[in-house]
Amino acid sequence: MNIVLLGAPGVGKGTYAGLLSKRYNIPHISTGDLLRNAVKKQSVTGKKAKSYMDKGLLVPDLLVLELLEKRIKEKDAKNGFLLDGFPRSIKQAETLGKKIKIDKVLSFEASGSVIMQRLGGRRTCRSCSAIFHVKNIPPKKEGICDKCGGGLYQRDDEKPEAIKVRLETYKKETAPLIDYYAKKGMLLKVDANPPIGQVGKILKNCVETLDKLR
Ligand code: AP5
Repeated sequence: MNIVLLGAPGVGKGTYAGLLSKRYNIPHISTGDLLRNAVKKQSVTGKKAKSYMDKGLLVPDLLVLELLEKRIKEKDAKNGFLLDGFPRSIKQAETLGKKIKIDKVLSFEASGSVIMQRLGGRRTCRSCSAIFHVKNIPPKKEGICDKCGGGLYQRDDEKPEAIKVRLETYKKETAPLIDYYAKKGMLLKVDANPPIGQVGKILKNCVETLDKLR
């Protein structure tokens, strides 16, 4: 099954995709992670993408598509995937729809203050991209990833100015996708306001819906 996760920056898409990936044994494919890996490797794509990402702007479609098309052809994605961060515009959704059948779109929604609190305290593992939060999901040892022992860092696009642009870009470019997929009858709205201790509550409807697709 091919699932798209929609939602504002910081709403928790990566966190929920990680949990759903384990349950359904399909990979969590995040275009943000693919781009950050390309930046880390200093590949041609990564070098071109970095300045857009640091400012909180969308990276040009061709660069993102190049990474995504390669990733979804990998063996672990043959039974489907959870796509986090793509599509991010109507144009990207149309391109995706021509290439792949999407079975369901999960739209995670939370209030502005919840999102700002989550974004402000996030820490990401440099090695395996696992996601933590200094207050909500602290690692057992400060600065160290529980999963692989890698170092945790704060992303370059977590500076206040970049966060502001990311939220504006989301509102302008990505939020229209909620209506786009609702009209196609593909959308499931999910209340992502509950705290992480109640993640079962957030994922209950998702799991009920996705179980039927198996
Ligand atoms: P990307 O990496 O996709 O960033 P994003 O969409 O801004 O989303 P985030 O990763 O910031 O948030 P998230 O919703 O995954 O939240 P998380 O689970 O981490 O993209 C980065 C950049 O890449 C873009 O700005 C753009 O430049 C470029 N890009 C990517 N895709 C592109 C595309 N298709 N086209 C063009 N450009 C593209 O959770 C946030 C925090 O909250 C964490 O600390 C977590 O621990 C905590 N948390 C999660 N859930 C809860 C909860 N229920 N309670 C308490 N805390 C919680």
